[in-house]
Amino acid sequence: MHRDALAKPNNLPAGPCAMVIFGASGDLTRRKLIPALCNLAAAGLLPARFAIIGFAFDPLTTDSFRKQLNDEVQSSETAPLDPKLWDSILERTFYIQGDFKDGAAYQQLKEKVEQADRDYQTGGNRFFYLAVAPMFFSEIVRQLGQAGLVQQQSGHWSRVIIEKPFGHDLDSARQLNAEIKKVLDETQIYRIDHYLGKETVQNIMVFRFGNSIFEPIWTRSFIDHVQITAAESVGVEHRGAYYERAGALRDMVPNHLFQLVTLTAMEPPISFEADAVRQKQAEVLHSIQPSSPEDVLQNMVRGQYGESSDGAERLAAYRAEANVAPDSGTETFVALRLSIDNWRWAGVPFYLRTGKRLPKRATEIAIQFRRTPFVLFRNTPVKELQPNRLLIRIQPDEGISLSFGAKVPGPVMHLGLVNMDFEYTRYFGSAPSTGYERLLYDCMIGDATLFQRTDVLEAAWKILQPVLDVWSALPPRNFPNYSAGSWGPPEAAALMARDGREWRELE
Ligand code: BG6
Repeated sequence: MHRDALAKPNNLPAGPCAMVIFGASGDLTRRKLIPALCNLAAAGLLPARFAIIGFAFDPLTTDSFRKQLNDEVQSSETAPLDPKLWDSILERTFYIQGDFKDGAAYQQLKEKVEQADRDYQTGGNRFFYLAVAPMFFSEIVRQLGQAGLVQQQSGHWSRVIIEKPFGHDLDSARQLNAEIKKVLDETQIYRIDHYLGKETVQNIMVFRFGNSIFEPIWTRSFIDHVQITAAESVGVEHRGAYYERAGALRDMVPNHLFQLVTLTAMEPPISFEADAVRQKQAEVLHSIQPSSPEDVLQNMVRGQYGESSDGAERLAAYRAEANVAPDSGTETFVALRLSIDNWRWAGVPFYLRTGKRLPKRATEIAIQFRRTPFVLFRNTPVKELQPNRLLIRIQPDEGISLSFGAKVPGPVMHLGLVNMDFEYTRYFGSAPSTGYERLLYDCMIGDATLFQRTDVLEAAWKILQPVLDVWSALPPRNFPNYSAGSWGPPEAAALMARDGREWRELE
């Protein structure tokens, strides 16, 4: 069996529309957005009546912009694309050079969008992708409103996709929401989280609600605790300036990790309609009580990598990276213990950890079941049984495995832990994907299920605000506190050890 994840039998091309990309000269457009559009085209899901308009400050022309895209797409991993199809995409791609704060540039943009409507019959439908620094989000939305580009009249739609980070704390997220809502209705706002574009993340809901055998045991009666890890082996790369202000907590937790928490912990929604799903996600976050300062000190660990202590490859300390202060207090690692105070999860801790310069790249959710009530194998060498564990591997080896005890063959009773293992690529093959295909397609067809709703986002910040407050009041004194290439500071292990548990060792 081979998969084409996108070409599902009942998927039709999206309806006519134009896509406007703000920050079109940047990395995201070349590395993700355009390759994703190519993959959609190869799967027959891109509308025939379509146009792309790039808008950025860089002094490019439509020709040089097309050339840049062409070079990148030739070298990126996209589905085999008929050269004629690619040419037809390029032919309908345009560039406008302008300042995001300059009203006149938006008039030019408006003319271009209207011309595309006429030339490519895009039906007056448009979506704007804000691939820009967060400081421009509200300004661009305000300008779009002023230029009359986001009004929805006579059945035409207009939507805005906003990249993360959405705010840097609760107040700024609220303020940003208030500002963009002066111009846009909530149904026009698509706050993107690229984790939701990952097949394995989408599969969490299918796994839980498309099978009858897991849901009955998905409760405190059977589950001991949940561990979620998003480990990266890379350092801060060329993003020091951004990361200095963000840090690991803001960069990964309110968005990517909380998506994994909510999909794992949510109650079954009444349907897969956007609001039904997002309602259940919001309820999970509302059940997590904001921490007291004592909780923060006890249950929230931060770390920063120093240079590697051993190994052939010498890795630099975070403080030695480009655009990072030599005495930086920014965390590159966090480990958190969360309690979801609801009927299903009371007493089942969720442990989260994420960091840069860890020994390997791996994102996974480990559901650790309770031990058997007692060890039945008396008078045998078996003294302790390993609890069952369900592992949802998000990346890089996408799959799901369930471990259980089995008798090791032989005359003496010995138990070993074995795995039932499902690997995505073995079953379905691998289709080139940037992770943005489904999200762009969903925006074009108006399905916001995989996008973040205001209240979900604000609930996430509410949980983390006490952590931000305590951490900013008490700057770290022991940074750097883990070596590049190790599994984080000793406090992360201690957090688990206090509960009589330990982090799963990632093979
Ligand atoms: C981004 C963060 O949102 O997600 C990065 O800003 C991080 O710091 C990245 O590296 C991780 O995404 P992925 O898809 O590689 O797990």
